[in-house]
Amino acid sequence: MNDPESLLEPEVAGDEPEIDRQLRPQRLLDFVGQEQVKDQLAILIQAARLRSEPVEHLLLCGPPGLGKTTLANIVATEMGVSLRVTSGPAVEHQGALASMLTGLAERDILFIDEVHRLQRAVEESLYPAMEEFAFDFVSGKGAGAQTLRLALQSFTVIGATTREGMLSAPLRDRFGATFRLDFYRADQLLAIVSRSARLLAVSAEVSALELIAARSRGTPRIANRLLRRVRDYALVRGSGTVTRTATEEALALLEVDHLGLQESDRRLLQLICSHYQGGPVGLGTLGAALAEEPHTIEEVVEPYLIQLGLLQRTPRGRTVTLGAYRHLGLEPPGHLLSGSGDAGLFPKDS
Ligand SMILES: Nc1ncnc2c1ncn2[C@@H]1O[C@H](COP(=O)(O)OP(=O)(O)O)[C@@H](O)[C@H]1O
Ligand SMILES: [Mg+2]
Repeated sequence: MNDPESLLEPEVAGDEPEIDRQLRPQRLLDFVGQEQVKDQLAILIQAARLRSEPVEHLLLCGPPGLGKTTLANIVATEMGVSLRVTSGPAVEHQGALASMLTGLAERDILFIDEVHRLQRAVEESLYPAMEEFAFDFVSGKGAGAQTLRLALQSFTVIGATTREGMLSAPLRDRFGATFRLDFYRADQLLAIVSRSARLLAVSAEVSALELIAARSRGTPRIANRLLRRVRDYALVRGSGTVTRTATEEALALLEVDHLGLQESDRRLLQLICSHYQGGPVGLGTLGAALAEEPHTIEEVVEPYLIQLGLLQRTPRGRTVTLGAYRHLGLEPPGHLLSGSGDAGLFPKDS
């Protein structure tokens, strides 16, 4: 059970556990939080329906587990069209893209997860598809090369990315609207886990669900995973009911601390605090020291630590704040104590 790392792991496209599908809200009304995004999406969907057109191409950005895939599915449901799912690295060549595009019916949606990882040539053949609903095949080489243009049905691309900054400008420009998802507040996560508990027929104390919500790193996917882990714990070690006590015990076993940080979070902070005097230290160095892919650190681990004000990205590398030393119970170095620092902003133990 002591496997906190897996709580952070993003879902692989097309390979999500049945349970995630079961818990995924189907309609915009059931999607909790992100009010601005929902309001704008509702208008885009309604307008597209009134005009009998596909929705504009949409780009969804944000850390893993905040609802990008869920929203793409919701747009398809609300539009009454089919959603075809793929991901940047999965589209191996232009031909693969062509066969996906030609398989779409009018107004269908092609969902491209990790859209920042499309190959250059594939990305370039996506441009005319998005702009003019056309696919250009090139046959032959050199002077005798010929372009054959194939007309496509009008359709929508929904791209999702954890790294908006890595998208090329031409691709970014072809999306009609961009939505950025934020970490969720505890009351929103409470609404999400309460709904999940109901769907899974788990009997749970409200105070237990509040604790799960507060410890889930602002992330619905983690909230749902913690609920499942706590449910298992309560079944094996307790009465089966998810009580506050069972939840506290299960979270301690999972090494999820009162800020919702997990082992991987603490290892990163600890390394910068103890070995680099608080930083700055480069991402590559951190990756090597932690035996982690730098992009995983950057996309999965860091955003929440930055949100909490424990970590900062500077042009010279990563630095930690006074709050990080306090959270780890370490003695801060003098240079952090002398400034006004971030004392007081830091949430107290719950
Ligand atoms: N706003 C939300 N309301 C309710 N559940 C959500 C919400 N956002 C995400 N979830 C839940 O979290 C899980 C992960 O969401 P997902 O859309 O797969 O995230 P992403 O694609 O951004 O990594 C989903 O299975 C869904 O059940
Ligand atoms: Mg996803």
